[in-house]
Amino acid sequence: MLHADLSPTLLRELTELAASLARAAGDEALAGRRSIPTGNHVDHDTKSSATDPVTEFDRAAERRIVDGLIAARPDDAIVGEEGANRPGTTGIEWHVDPIDGTVNYLYGRPEYAVSVAVVVGDPTTAGAWRPVVGAVANPETGQVYHAYDGGGAYLRDEAGERRLTVTSVQDAAMVLLATGFGYEVEVRREQSRALVEILPAVRDIRRGGSAALDLCTVASGVVDAYAERGVHLWDIAAGWVIAGEAGARVLTWSGGPDRPLGILAAPEAVADALLELVARAFTGARRDPLG
Ligand code: IPD
Ligand code: CA
Repeated sequence: MLHADLSPTLLRELTELAASLARAAGDEALAGRRSIPTGNHVDHDTKSSATDPVTEFDRAAERRIVDGLIAARPDDAIVGEEGANRPGTTGIEWHVDPIDGTVNYLYGRPEYAVSVAVVVGDPTTAGAWRPVVGAVANPETGQVYHAYDGGGAYLRDEAGERRLTVTSVQDAAMVLLATGFGYEVEVRREQSRALVEILPAVRDIRRGGSAALDLCTVASGVVDAYAERGVHLWDIAAGWVIAGEAGARVLTWSGGPDRPLGILAAPEAVADALLELVARAFTGARRDPLG
């Protein structure tokens, strides 16, 4: 990836583009979900395992975002969860999760989101790439979280726009920790083993079902911190910027940009203690930190 020249003006423009595309794709996904009676699942195919669904609405949302990006930024690269893969020449790479929280979407649960991010840097070198713009839209609530590098994190909804800050928790034992679980049996085995270490050491655990929203809840103080092993960059890239700009320390480890195996986002005061805990709980959590 080339080095992109990222002025605050450009970052702001990219953030607005990300937010408006996430919002528009989310509105379509919401209309799709509402066309199906409550209690009925959305028809779906499966991906990495029998429990990993993809619906026609995931694909349509990705198409809509990709079309919008190509129209506005034809020379940028694009990577999407549902297969979008377009090389670029600008050093700007968009990472798109068209519906993060697809299982919730399937069941008609309101915690799902559209996540759109910009990543820059050299993906072949650990620590040499980073997300710099993120927008996460929750179609069910009409909320859009957004942030860019150095610009603060914000939540936009019908009441207007407000700046986000992480909680002031001081003690890791008092942390309300969001986490998530993957779709593959081996990944879940390790996640279960990790929970045995983590659950007794914190206030409690929350499993919302969308990594992108988990990171936004860290930013808005609705949980204290978030840790998960087994995420993809499209799940976390936008939320990473949003949580970071709201004051969280965000650390990822292992795997390279296509599959960073783990992420921890936590307020500074508890970040070291949680990192110790997560490193004990998840195999290899401290090896090869990327950021
Ligand atoms: C999943 C969600 C979930 C997380 C998984 C992700 P998807 O993404 O973010 O919360 O625990 O690791 O794969 O499949 O709903 O887009
Ligand atoms: Ca996802």
